[in-house]
Amino acid sequence: MVKEMNNYRADFPILNQRVNDEALVYLDNAATSQKPKQVIEAIVNYYQRDNANVHRGVHTLAERATAQFEAVRQKVATFINAPSSQEIVYTKGTTEALNWVARSYGDQFVKAGDEIVISYAEHHSNLVPWQQLAQRVGAKLKYLELTTDGEVDLEKAAATITTKTKIVAVNQASNVLGIVNPIKQLAQLAHKNGAIIVVDGAQGAPHMPTDVQALGADFYAFSGHKLLAPTGIGILWGKGELLEAMSPLEFGGEMIDWVELDKSSFKKAPLKFEGGTQNIEGVVGLGAAIDYLNKVGMDKIVAKEH
Ligand SMILES: Cc1ncc(COP(=O)(O)O)c(C=O)c1O
Repeated sequence: MVKEMNNYRADFPILNQRVNDEALVYLDNAATSQKPKQVIEAIVNYYQRDNANVHRGVHTLAERATAQFEAVRQKVATFINAPSSQEIVYTKGTTEALNWVARSYGDQFVKAGDEIVISYAEHHSNLVPWQQLAQRVGAKLKYLELTTDGEVDLEKAAATITTKTKIVAVNQASNVLGIVNPIKQLAQLAHKNGAIIVVDGAQGAPHMPTDVQALGADFYAFSGHKLLAPTGIGILWGKGELLEAMSPLEFGGEMIDWVELDKSSFKKAPLKFEGGTQNIEGVVGLGAAIDYLNKVGMDKIVAKEH
């Protein structure tokens, strides 16, 4: 196993340098991971061979770029076991994905007096958007207690998540403590009370096989750059009916279906959320990163970590 991992080191060109007279050892992967040459080359190839805007041209390059853009959507769906690629929305990253859920789903479905439940161990991007939502609509933000190990305390959670709860938002794995939360049980508690569960997978997706259906999640967000892909690309997965119920947040090219002088209609999800020219090179890089991780094997990665 160790030998195998040493071979992977050679795939990361940035590690081939000395810092302070020592071979570079990079341990800041929770902040952002380094990129293997397969990801870098996929982006270079894309620009050297296929670069064009997606979904708006009928020439050869536009067709190639669009085909890659949509093939990665399917690749992501398979990677997290989403039922459909049409439930995969490209975002800038976890932060944008969580903000979109709070802004769009939250503003529509959370009312004054309702409750939003998060844990005491959330990243700012899974805390502040809910604080802001609570302030906008007059809802109450409540916190799940932790055990002494730093995990969400399930016994206490049963008293915190009630029929007043509309959204439970919790990380799958903590960026501070590394603990993995009992998402399945929290999802059951949320659903029993008529709430949805939003999972911050920023530190989950890079570290273990992800199955959004087995988790029982309603929304799942992660960032490409923490799993070997470029910065500026991330994913929001949501159940089809929830994405359909959400209004788009950015209006412009590509997300519209029909435009008249005084009104417009919008495409269905996921395209209705993807206004304007997208981070196509980021999507291509994300596809290459997923190929790389699949080749190594997420099950091997989690075993090596343990
Ligand atoms: C648990 C967790 N959630 C969310 C984020 C935000 O990710 P991004 O900055 O890529 O949007 C991070 C980043 O460190 C994180 O660790």
